[in-house]
Amino acid sequence: KKYDPYRPSFHTFEQISRDAERLCQELHPKAEEETRKIALLQKLSDIATEVFGEAEVLPFGSSGNGLALANADMDVCVFLNSEEGADEVSPVEFVERIGNRLEQDPDFENILQLKRARVPIVKLNHINGIACDIGYQNDLAIWNTRLLRAYCKIDSRVRDIVVIVKHWAKRRKINNPYTGSLSSYAYVLLVIHVLQRRGVLPNLQSIVPGDGDIPIWDCQGFNRYFFEDVANLGRYWQPTPEGLQQSVGELLYEFFRYYASDFKYTTHAVSIRSGGLLTKEEKEWTKDHTQPQNQQQRQDQQQEKQQTQPKDKSQPSEDSQPLDPLQQPEAEASPTEGEPDAPVSPKEGEASDQQTASSAPPENRPPVVKNRYLFCIEDPFELNHNVGRPVDRFSLFTIRGEFMRAAKILSRNGDGALGRLCVERE
Ligand code: CTP
Ligand code: MG
Repeated sequence: KKYDPYRPSFHTFEQISRDAERLCQELHPKAEEETRKIALLQKLSDIATEVFGEAEVLPFGSSGNGLALANADMDVCVFLNSEEGADEVSPVEFVERIGNRLEQDPDFENILQLKRARVPIVKLNHINGIACDIGYQNDLAIWNTRLLRAYCKIDSRVRDIVVIVKHWAKRRKINNPYTGSLSSYAYVLLVIHVLQRRGVLPNLQSIVPGDGDIPIWDCQGFNRYFFEDVANLGRYWQPTPEGLQQSVGELLYEFFRYYASDFKYTTHAVSIRSGGLLTKEEKEWTKDHTQPQNQQQRQDQQQEKQQTQPKDKSQPSEDSQPLDPLQQPEAEASPTEGEPDAPVSPKEGEASDQQTASSAPPENRPPVVKNRYLFCIEDPFELNHNVGRPVDRFSLFTIRGEFMRAAKILSRNGDGALGRLCVERE
């Protein structure tokens, strides 16, 4: 174990833990919000049934895994059971048909049909104040929601830490995959990884009652097996004594410290499925891939960008210095690589979102979509999906700066530290 000269005292951890408990209570959605969500779910279910015949609407994401903050968006997924089933209705057709039907309902506003997103969805706001994303036939999303929920059920500290990390990421404006930062889902995976390392959580995907091989439960071509019966987890796994002892305050500090200085962004990939780290080489996630983007995808992307905040170009704040001068960010995230005030310019051959290496004038270049591997976070089931894909050089620099700032704030006097940690970034 590395010596950490900045490690706060026991007393500081206790203070942070007390503040964390209070903050989690404040951030917890009220019963009234739950009621509005259930009403919306029912309404969407009626509409889906009207449009497609027999249909089931299931919540996923934070509405299904118990990790919602107050005022969180609702993610739902529509499954068709009728004879006009999934085989007949393509994702694009689904988005179009339900989108057009919702347009006619005055209760829904800002309806957006994203037909060529990685996962096609309809985005909307309901007049009761809930924002909602509607997806289609996405079994894996339901299963990864259940996996996250199972991890949360194992230990109450998981939810507390996730809720604070999500709140921090929102306040610091690094929780928007459309502008290059990470989804909440990515942050949850990052938290689970650290808790697995610290002996607080097991790897549910490797626990098999009876010690046999890991079963293969196919879902959309991936293995969705995990040990879900957490009430009986004790028979197969125990937290380490250290894992049991650590307070929420200590674990929060360790979370930020790990991504500020231990995690090797240039070589490592976070993998909760394997209970630890993989290398980018093992994953063959070493070279960014580009693929042609069609007109529809480009329109969707532009529409989506307009709906989300513009990319924040400010540098990490003054107090975002590395904790340890020997552990500066590696070159890929260094501000010296690009203009000090602009996104770091891509190196030759590493086209950014809307570029190719072609020498044609920009308007004649075919647009491309990019798979980036700067921050590698393996999806627990969809193993070829890097959940950190939206992160580019500039946003990586910003995110790492925020991890460092957070670890530094928590390592000082714990009094009011959580408040300072989550101050809204301009
Ligand atoms: N998801 C996914 N792959 C991603 C992002 C999201 O499969 N790259 C799915 C996951 O099932 C995840 C759900 O979409 O649980 C919702 O993701 P997200 O909105 O990022 O997380 P929430 O927990 O809903 O967080 P928030 O409350 O901030 O919306
Ligand atoms: Mg969500």
